[in-house]
Amino acid sequence: MREQLKTLEREALLAVEQAEDLPQLQDLRIQYLGKKGKLTAILRGMAKLAPEERPVIGQLANDIRKQLEQALSTKTTRLAEQAKLAKLQAEFVDITLPGTPFVLGHQHLITRTLEEIQRVFAGMGFSLAEGPEVETDYYNFEALNIPANHPARDMQDSFYFGPELLLRTHTSSVQVRTMEKMRPRPVRIIASGRVYRRDDDATHSPMFHQVEGLAVDEHITLAELKGVLLTFARSIFGEQREIRLRPSFFPFTEPSAEVDISCFLCEGAGCRLCKDTGWIEILGSGMVHPQVLAVSGYDPEQVSGFAFGMGVERIAMLKYGVDDMRHLFTNDIRFLRQF
Ligand code: PHE
Repeated sequence: MREQLKTLEREALLAVEQAEDLPQLQDLRIQYLGKKGKLTAILRGMAKLAPEERPVIGQLANDIRKQLEQALSTKTTRLAEQAKLAKLQAEFVDITLPGTPFVLGHQHLITRTLEEIQRVFAGMGFSLAEGPEVETDYYNFEALNIPANHPARDMQDSFYFGPELLLRTHTSSVQVRTMEKMRPRPVRIIASGRVYRRDDDATHSPMFHQVEGLAVDEHITLAELKGVLLTFARSIFGEQREIRLRPSFFPFTEPSAEVDISCFLCEGAGCRLCKDTGWIEILGSGMVHPQVLAVSGYDPEQVSGFAFGMGVERIAMLKYGVDDMRHLFTNDIRFLRQF
């Protein structure tokens, strides 16, 4: 029996030594020390032993049990530690590595320019108004004194959805809409957004942005228009700018004027940008036509107004030296990054 126990001891210790994971250890515990395990099986033979041998064998069996338990617990601790180490190594994060750079975007040049323009007029007391991009013939043309078959419609070749609806060709369509809403109160608004024309070359795009300005009140004069536009020109293009008004024609303003700023590249001396004239055209404007005031429900004898409209792309191109409008819409990141 002593031999049996000694063999069991060797075998069990070796098995524990070679176990590779915790479930295997658990199996060994059951196999050797469990109620139906090998040690119990051997001890069942105790009855056949001489009485004086029993305590000796009993002592030996206890020692073996203790040893085995000790071995199992040591091995359990070791395996658990190894497992933890392996997990830590697998999950290792090198916090000294540089992080993934976070690229911060910025506003598109059009948005930025638009907001600059809006800020200038907000500073002069203009609030924001809006109108739809899909507009009726009435607000885009008819109410603005541009009847069907009027040659002025040609200047703004249009995209139609039918006889009555079109993509607005200018933000002037917001003029009558706003006046109808605000009547009889005074109006001092700017309206911005997309407009559409059948145009496509280096300085024209079928879709572009305009900012419209409109002021209607008692005693509004051309002098106030000039003052507002001079302030605008100087805020956007520098304090040295002068402006000049050239007589022009728009069906919805009378008189009408095209507005030039003194060239900011050559300070008026003449250069490629101003085509040697010293002046650069930036917008169209005029005094609101009495007819337009009348269809909007104002009495042209009581109030007067001025209006102006400019292309945001044109302002952006001039201010930031962009030579082809199409750059503003192709979204080439190398171009956009420069601003
Ligand atoms: N709507 C005109 C255009 O698109 C500009 C303009 C606006 C002119 C307001 C006069 C008054 O060309």
